[in-house]
Amino acid sequence: MNKLAVLTGGGDCPGLNAVIRAVVRSANQYGLEVLGIRDGFHGAVEGDFVPLSLADVSGILPRGGTILGTTNRDNPFQYMTKVNGVSQPLDRSEDVLRNLKGAGVDALLAIGGDGSLNISLKFADKGFPVIGIPKTIDNDLMATDQTFGFQTAVETAQEALDRLHTTAESHHRVMILEVMGRYAGWIALYAGVAGGADVILIPEIPYNLARIAYSVQQRAKQGKKFSIIVVAEGAKPSGGEMVVERLFPGRTDPVKLGGIGVKIGEDLEKHFGLETRVTVLGHLQRGGSPNSYDRVLATRYGVAAVDAALEGKFGIMVALQGREIVHVPLHQAVDQLKLVPLNDPILIAARAMGIEMGD
Ligand code: F6P
Repeated sequence: MNKLAVLTGGGDCPGLNAVIRAVVRSANQYGLEVLGIRDGFHGAVEGDFVPLSLADVSGILPRGGTILGTTNRDNPFQYMTKVNGVSQPLDRSEDVLRNLKGAGVDALLAIGGDGSLNISLKFADKGFPVIGIPKTIDNDLMATDQTFGFQTAVETAQEALDRLHTTAESHHRVMILEVMGRYAGWIALYAGVAGGADVILIPEIPYNLARIAYSVQQRAKQGKKFSIIVVAEGAKPSGGEMVVERLFPGRTDPVKLGGIGVKIGEDLEKHFGLETRVTVLGHLQRGGSPNSYDRVLATRYGVAAVDAALEGKFGIMVALQGREIVHVPLHQAVDQLKLVPLNDPILIAARAMGIEMGD
């Protein structure tokens, strides 16, 4: 084991640089070289590699984003390639293997969510030594208690809720905050509880509009003339569908959700005469400096991934279980998404607090 390569794939999130720094610093302790791959699997296909020294990772711990760049577009197994002037999806996975082997890379550390880890699993299945590191603000990866980036995103959403509260209270209004999370309601649930939301709507619990309106009206009767609704982008009405903002055919994640907040706002006004204002928090949840929790978790993941490489443990993802970092087979992490179970303790606490979950 002489040389590791590291890439960041999929949507960025707070803590990516903290992992890269931990990988380079701990690899350096063992005399290992580290190559960075630019722009995720795009750089792996194109052979866009850069050596990472201790100086390169100095000062990056608090920085959001990723010094390596990332993409959620490029899948080497269906890589858009121009043939006779026409772009078409080709399997370029052999190019990736050739590039990695040509650069003398002994193991690939792939920092990603389910899209990038699915791709990583395919390379592991092809026999290349791969170790996955779980990132995503959505916290929707199986086999780990938590992905890094999630806690910071929750904090950002909670701060937005705190700010919306003052305006809601002053204007006696219904304020809706739409947060990210794709098909899982983790961000909405945690931020809603932390930010004192009155209604939390998550994809796992289809909502009933009349129920939401009733709860807002009941609050008004009790003298609370404002309500705060936090809605996950993947929430849907009972018997209805998620709201899709755009489609990106051919990508690992072809569906971009968005717009449910506006829909609920319009529906509450139209059917129940409730005036609402809608805020879509969007990519603010992905940006900025990681909080301490995510810095520590990201650092532990980076260190653990280098240790796993030295132990020759491949085809695995480093994962948090309880307080320990463990190794789980990569396929366990990506076989299915980790959704909020209906017996989740935070969900139970939310209900016990009288928070309306929309059902
Ligand atoms: O997976 C992270 C995430 O931020 C999701 O919460 C969201 O649905 C998606 O990425 C947005 O992706 P994009 O950056 O392509 O708009």
